[in-house]
Amino acid sequence: MTDLALEELRAAYRRDYDPYADRSIADHLAELADRRVDKPVSYSARGNGCWVLTDYDDVSDLLRRNNRGVVSFPNEPDGLNLSGARDKQIPIELDGPEHREIRRVLDPLFGPRKVAELEDRLREECNRLIDGFIEDGRCDFVSSFAVPFPGATVLAIMGWPPEDLEMMNGWADVLLHGVPGGTEEESNAARGRTHQEFAAYMARKIPEWRAAPRKDDVMSVMLDAEIGGKKLTDDQLFDFSVLMMMAGLDTVQSVLARSAVYFAERPDQWDRMFENPDLVPTAVEELLRWATPPVPTRTITDDHLEIRGVKIPQGERVHAPLGSANRDPKYYENPDEIVFDRPVKPHLAFGVGTHRCVGLHLARLELAIAFEELHRRIGKFELDPEQPVPHEHLGLAWGVLDVHLRFAPGSRELS
Ligand code: HEM
Repeated sequence: MTDLALEELRAAYRRDYDPYADRSIADHLAELADRRVDKPVSYSARGNGCWVLTDYDDVSDLLRRNNRGVVSFPNEPDGLNLSGARDKQIPIELDGPEHREIRRVLDPLFGPRKVAELEDRLREECNRLIDGFIEDGRCDFVSSFAVPFPGATVLAIMGWPPEDLEMMNGWADVLLHGVPGGTEEESNAARGRTHQEFAAYMARKIPEWRAAPRKDDVMSVMLDAEIGGKKLTDDQLFDFSVLMMMAGLDTVQSVLARSAVYFAERPDQWDRMFENPDLVPTAVEELLRWATPPVPTRTITDDHLEIRGVKIPQGERVHAPLGSANRDPKYYENPDEIVFDRPVKPHLAFGVGTHRCVGLHLARLELAIAFEELHRRIGKFELDPEQPVPHEHLGLAWGVLDVHLRFAPGSRELS
């Protein structure tokens, strides 16, 4: 396709979209819902430019095409927050045989049986965190639970040292949220410093772990993993560790925090979720559909890819907001409502195709444990009227920065 023809195609489908625009998540979803009717496939010239999908089937078809006409690099909405050249992140930005090789190593480590072995440890961690705030009758649910709980989970499955948990949670908090109340520059500077501290930590630890006897945790296995006959370098292991921290933390914390906001306002639904133990897994799936944090992107590698009759040429980037797919009224009646016993249409919160989330069994277990233990220990809660209302954030995963809750104080259990 000539440059002119490409410009004409882009112009014909032009409707700009800013995935980082400072608007509420509900407003973003309303914008995507409007586009689903007006221009289900559109071109946004913002940033480095990308095509924007909105419909469930279009998003699902695109993601299923990995290795057949599309690749996953760069996995960012519009390329704007790419900080210059960098390697492809393992496994999310790898494709083809390299990606298959690494998923063959990772998948068994995150299988349902393997993950179930962590249940007791996770329940204990959950109760330790609840002990930290239950006597106060109030907490910022995000900093005291929604961030540290998945942090502890990632640490456990990776096999990182338990004594480093607090330090890692501190790093994760800065990487995810920057400096609360600070400027964009202050936040970016803090993220840069944290990145360096985490890199220095890993630069010390990786050689120690390489020299130590192997265990059956993810880090041990990755130390010996190979791509194309070559062991992973220290840099690759570091990038993988950053991805695990972000992929495992940002997502689970977002679903937990957004669910806490929802249940604070809908105590009837909170009680309903526990009327019958079988309802918890179903409710978790519905909360995942409704909250859907990540927003993946693909790059077209075939001569062109046809979506709804639009022939999008090689090299174009296509943004696939899973949250929009998961609120497509074609499959979900009253999509903005949380309905625990909806007719089953598998949601796309974990993605689909070759890159479908490695950690989905772990995420489901974490969410179920967290809700069960919070319900057992805290029962009813509400948004604290004396504190600011929750602040949402966008980015590579949509979520909430703070959720101040108030509830009847209870007693500690573990100490
Ligand atoms: C609510 C929780 C979670 C959600 C909604 C979620 C969602 C996703 C999605 C949508 C993808 C695919 C992205 C794409 O196609 O570009 C993905 C990939 C991935 N997730 Fe998750 N995730 C969650 C939890 C976790 C956890 C707990 C871990 C690990 C500790 C994890 C590790 C990963 C990894 C490593 C990938 C890359 C897989 C690949 O590229 O082959 N995720 N996740």
